Amino acid sequence: MRTIIEPFRIKMTEPIKIISKEERIEKLKKAHYNVFLLDAIDCTIDLLTDSGTGAMSAQQWAAIMIGDESYAGSQSWKKFEATIKKITAIKHIFPTHQGRAAEGLLAMSRLKAGDMIPNNSHFDTTRANIEFAGATAVNLLCEEGRDPSIEAPFKGNMDIEKLTSFIQTHGAENIPFAMLTITNNTGGGQPVSLANIRAVKTVLSQYNIPLVLDACRFAENAYFISKREKGYQDKSLLEIAQEIFSLADAATMSLKKDGLANIGGFFICNNDEWAEDFKNLLILREGFPTYGGLAGRDLEAISVGLMEALDMDYQTYRHATVDYLTQKLDMKGIPVIKPSGGHAVFIDAKTFMPHIPPLAYPGIALINALYIEGGIRAVELGTVMFGHFDDKGKEQPSELELVRLAFPRRVYTQSHFDYIIEVVEKVWEERHTYSGLNITKQPQMLRHFSCHFENN
Ligand code: F0G
Repeated sequence: MRTIIEPFRIKMTEPIKIISKEERIEKLKKAHYNVFLLDAIDCTIDLLTDSGTGAMSAQQWAAIMIGDESYAGSQSWKKFEATIKKITAIKHIFPTHQGRAAEGLLAMSRLKAGDMIPNNSHFDTTRANIEFAGATAVNLLCEEGRDPSIEAPFKGNMDIEKLTSFIQTHGAENIPFAMLTITNNTGGGQPVSLANIRAVKTVLSQYNIPLVLDACRFAENAYFISKREKGYQDKSLLEIAQEIFSLADAATMSLKKDGLANIGGFFICNNDEWAEDFKNLLILREGFPTYGGLAGRDLEAISVGLMEALDMDYQTYRHATVDYLTQKLDMKGIPVIKPSGGHAVFIDAKTFMPHIPPLAYPGIALINALYIEGGIRAVELGTVMFGHFDDKGKEQPSELELVRLAFPRRVYTQSHFDYIIEVVEKVWEERHTYSGLNITKQPQMLRHFSCHFENN
């Protein structure tokens, strides 16, 4: 059959509220034109994030009932540890309450002022945690990954030449570790090939620099490798994941993505000293190392979820939904990043809204239009999230102005996607009627979550 179906049926539903356009205009105004400040109930289709928003399976709910809530050494911890060891073969496993807690404790335990951390592209919380420790987060993404109009199979790859010269310029002694984000969320959810991971590892090994994976979407990355990288067609997603982790010295992960859970994270590493330092901070901040800020029932749901994320039928369906939306929008001439990423469709807002300059935030203009027209909530990955202020205090735009429609896992069905397509098309037809925005209030860090806008 040509039609790829959802490999599940629905046992429990959650109502969606559909409010009028006039009501949405009012709600957005009250939220200071920042969709993060809306009530979720006022969003018809919530594509703000794929993080913690997935639907759990019957097997996960069943596992929750056997959660062992013992403070130390629970059965649920044993299962969690065994599952992650099966996938990664990494020695020390630490649960955290979510990804950024793992990043924060890693940064706190390993970084000092003046250190430099390269990555293909840092996610915003990773960057913020590194910079909070006084270090500098640097993106060394390959050229094709930086151009939304280029089609290439592994646009998340690290630029190996840049990595080598980066190490030579800054000195290995100032680079306590390097990172690779799989898939590269902020660059369009694009995958990293195993060849690239191996090449990064080879360069780093020459300088004794450990490789830390940001593994939030490792199973989606494994799927891309199985489809696009020569030599991996006959391997299971688990085998590919095992090969990926065999090249890593450590990893952080938000289990709210490919853990198919609503909460959770981990830090894992092979180095005993790293583990000891991390463990001490974990106890101080998150909890005893066998629960790390999670309930036993969360550990159970995650253990099941991680293996479900490596199921080929599930990944085939998931990628088909992202592809479907990308292709339909592309056919209308709407500028989307191609090929489609693993967890989201990314619209190039710079091209979509060419009349709005970067410092008037074309991404936010597009996001607000999608909300007003159809109650769709999306997120900007552009100047509001990644812009910075130079030495003279002048705001500098981000390289890319992307709008991300992120897909919660196993939540929306075909008609929801058809509705999304209709809404995006309507905004596209009327794009010239939208104007840019000013920021009227902003915090010092991670401003996108809470800043206020006004239309200009
Ligand atoms: N790294 C990447 C690549 C991420 O995408 C995220 C979260 C994190 C780290 C942090 O994990 O949220 O569990 O603390 N991304 C979400 C998103 C929030 O919408 O892309 P967390």
